[in-house]
Order: sequence, then C-alpha cells, then structure tokens
Amino acid sequence: MVGGYQQINGYFYRMNIFNTIADTRSYLATVRNRPVTLGLVPTMGALHEGHLSLVRRSVEENHFTGISIFVNPIQFNNPADLEKYPRTLEADLRLLEPLLGENDFIFAPSVKEMYPIPETHVYRFGPLETTMEGAFRPGHFNGVGIVVNKLFRITQPDRAYFGEKDFQQLAIIRRMTEIENIKVKIIPCPIIREPDGLAMSSRNVRLTPEHRKAAPLIYRSMIEICRSAEGRYPDDLKNDIRSRIDSTGLLVTEYIEFAEESTLQPVKTFEHKGNVRCFVAVRAGDVRLIDNLRFFKGDERH
Ligand code: PAJ
Repeated sequence: MVGGYQQINGYFYRMNIFNTIADTRSYLATVRNRPVTLGLVPTMGALHEGHLSLVRRSVEENHFTGISIFVNPIQFNNPADLEKYPRTLEADLRLLEPLLGENDFIFAPSVKEMYPIPETHVYRFGPLETTMEGAFRPGHFNGVGIVVNKLFRITQPDRAYFGEKDFQQLAIIRRMTEIENIKVKIIPCPIIREPDGLAMSSRNVRLTPEHRKAAPLIYRSMIEICRSAEGRYPDDLKNDIRSRIDSTGLLVTEYIEFAEESTLQPVKTFEHKGNVRCFVAVRAGDVRLIDNLRFFKGDERH
C-alpha cells in the first residue's frame, strides 16, 4: 500500500508506514515533484526520548521527515546482542504518531528486503575505525556504513539526523558519504539523558535493577574527574575514571579514551589544538553501554 492509514493488530495508525523499498520509492516520487526538503532519522527502533529529539528536530527543519526502523543484523558483532535487542514496533509507532504530519513516513523493512543477497562490501574507514568502538566491535562500522548508505540511496534525504551519543558513528557516516559521493547534510544532535544522568539507550531496558542503579556513575565519574583535570595528563584521568566506574563491582570499563573530535585519535596531552572529548564503553552485566562528554574546546585553551 502507498500512503494513508494502516491497521496493525486492530489499531489504526494515521501514518504512512512502508515495509518495502518499492513502496517507499513510489511514495517519495509523489511528494518530491515539488521543491521540498526531506529529513531522515535512521533508527533501530525501541524508541526513547533520544530518538524522538532527532525526529522533532527533523520535523522542525524540513518539509517532511522519514524515520527508518530496522535492526540491522550486519552491524552486530555479538549474536546474543542481536537476539536480545528490543523490538517494540507498535510502541514505537504510538510514540511517533503525535510527532508526525500527514506527509511524513516510516520505513520498516524486513532483513530480506534490505539484504536480498548476503552482503560482501568492505569499507575502508582508515584510522576512524581502528580506535574505540572500531577496535572493540570488529565489523560494526562496516555494517553501519552499508545500511546507512542503503537508506540514503533509497530515500535521498537532504538532511540526516544522528545523535552525538554515538559520536564515532557520526564520523564514520560523514566519511561514508564522502566515499560514496552522497550529497546529504549530516546533522549532529546532543545526547539526551535520564534525570540521573544516564545516557538514554534502547539497551537500558535490559539492565538489571542493580546495574540500572549503578549506571549513572558512568556519566558522573566522567564529569567529576574531568573537572579536576588542571595540570594533569589524559592517562592519569583515564585511570581515575576507570577505577571510579569499576569501584562498585557492577560496572566494568571496557575502554576510556580522550580523543580529538574530528579525527577520533587519542590525545596524549591536553595541550591539544582541536576539540577533545572523553569517550567510555562499559559492561553492565551482559549489557554494553557507551557515553561521551565534551572535555574542552581547543579555542577555549589557546
Ligand atoms: P539507534 O541506536 O537506534 O540510534 C538511532 C539514532 O539515535 C542514532 O543517531 C543515535 O546516535 C541516536 N541516539 C540514541 N540514543 C540517543 C540519546 N540518548 N541522545 C541522542 N541521540 C541518541 O545508531 C543506530 O541506531 C544505528 O547504528 C543506525 C544509525 C540506525 C544504523 O543501523
């Protein structure tokens, strides 16, 4: 079906919901024959306020908005993580319904639709993929690059919205658009947090009550220890943040890094000209959490 109302399990959604590339393309052909801008918000569903902040911004800045909901199997380096990833399509649609106008649409394809044949493409993102998430999740960014390239080709957005929660992913996507010569404006959006400071994530619902209680320590440790940075070296601060996070016995820091924002390369001193950000990945039971914090802007120090 193309456009209009859709009934799922007895509930009528006043939204354009497409499951196939062909339906999405024919719908886009009907709205894009006028000079309108399209904003795209790629997601894997299990939507929360972090996702919704991207959607609101896109709706504000564009004539119409598309949201993709697709749990992309090829970006999961851990099969158990893929299997346990929350899938909550109907709840997602109900959250989106009040935010969307009549021209906006949702693209929720199947795995077969996105990958009719097994994917073999290999991106070379260079130094961007050798640190942090790239080093700890082999193949992850290749899978992200492939799916976002497909989404951009299917929908051809003018702007695409991504959260700074996945800061390295933003750099990878910018690089992918250079490699593929795709003309789209990538819009970074700030991290949305729970009232206790924990960065919102679809994986937070999988935390046990104990791990959920301990998890705000990730953000708190970064903030408090970064405040005491005067005259100290990154390695010192990293050790302090790691021991503070690991002190409860419930959280285990996988990596902690101070890196330059545009190259994502670790900095060895804070006498650095660029913007530096603190990045962290933590295991909370069998859930992996990431977070980051702007440490300083180069021009504030020089
Ligand atoms: P997903 O984890 O669902 O996130 C979709 C978008 O929401 C990403 O751009 C992510 O950075 C943003 N986001 C998640 N939590 C956020 C928060 N607390 N504050 C602000 N933004 C937040 O990232 C992916 O999906 C996938 O890798 C994807 C890009 C869709 C490719 O499959």
